[in-house]
Amino acid sequence: MALLPILRYPNPRLNRVASPVSIVDEAVRKLAANMLETMYAAPGVGLAATQVDVHRRLIVMDISEDHSCPMIFINPDILNREGECEDEEGCLSVPGIREKVRRSATIKVAALNLSGKRMELEAEGLLAVCIQHEIDHLDGHLFVEYLSPLKQTRIKNKFLKQSREK
Ligand code: NI
Repeated sequence: MALLPILRYPNPRLNRVASPVSIVDEAVRKLAANMLETMYAAPGVGLAATQVDVHRRLIVMDISEDHSCPMIFINPDILNREGECEDEEGCLSVPGIREKVRRSATIKVAALNLSGKRMELEAEGLLAVCIQHEIDHLDGHLFVEYLSPLKQTRIKNKFLKQSREK
């Protein structure tokens, strides 16, 4: 396994729309394993392939406290949304920033698992928020886009300054 470099906001590659995974093969399973390892090492609770510069529809997450519940969603699709919630979110591509974002409270999601089988899942709370955040990445969107233009500009300038200083 290997740790993968994570793209940082405002890298324009984070705005690419990922294409569906056509076959769940060994390469996809290896990518998922490397993404999980990268996410745990960061540490984070979710990671989308887009963030490691692979523009395929694959996300990994683990919201348990002891890394005991890795979840992998291939070609995830939200079938149904209910209610609203507002929670603080962060992102491994926007390190150090946490802001409140409004999301659907409960979602029903369909995806392929690592065996290529279709599964459906009802999610709420942190899991629902995390799935929505990661699917946004696959569509080229970051959580900061939900913030006011003023806040977005401040965050963008902070990260541009950081990358210049490196
Ligand atoms: Ni993120």
